[in-house]
Amino acid sequence: MLSIVVLISGGGSNLRALLDAAQDAEFPARVVVVGADRDAEGFEHAEEFGVPTFSVAMSNFADRDAWGDALLEQVRLWQPDLVVLSGFMKLLPPRVVAALSPNLINTHPAYLPEFPGAHAVRDAMQAGVTETGASVIIVDNGVDTGPIISQERIPIHPGDTEEHLHERIKPVERRLLIQAVLDIANGVVELGLHSRR
Ligand code: GAR
Repeated sequence: MLSIVVLISGGGSNLRALLDAAQDAEFPARVVVVGADRDAEGFEHAEEFGVPTFSVAMSNFADRDAWGDALLEQVRLWQPDLVVLSGFMKLLPPRVVAALSPNLINTHPAYLPEFPGAHAVRDAMQAGVTETGASVIIVDNGVDTGPIISQERIPIHPGDTEEHLHERIKPVERRLLIQAVLDIANGVVELGLHSRR
């Protein structure tokens, strides 16, 4: 059974999908804790499923490295096989990435390497393209530059708003994330699990 720490910043709809999937006794992964960089709205999903939460706010630390070290300490308490960034909107310091990668994956609402960063949906709309996408990647030290595990194209409709488009992207992200977790758990996608622990 793959144990997962999920890190969020917002509403946690992707987290919710993972929690739902893990209700199935056959699903080979469990979310052991949900962490955030704030008192995230998405904690309510964890609480509903009886999964513990923790938050480590950057504002409580002198610098990004000190914050990252505190976050890493919390993550390590749970000895996870995999850490999933799911709408976690802070860049992890390089030493945290080095400590967790390659067992550190991220969902992103664009067809990477197109539109990396925190405003991927808006950026795609502003670029005037007719399609964007969703991706699941292994996190490296760049901004959404890591190896791609899976991705899918999603059309942009005339008259789409950023909100509407994002709401169409998210179900695809959820499906890709759950499949990625399944593939990692079943060894179909090889991340080098346990190699750093
Ligand atoms: C998701 O679309 C996720 O890919 C995105 O934030 C949203 C979080 O939604 N992440 C990024 O843009 C990271 N660069 P959720 O909180 O409802 O799961």
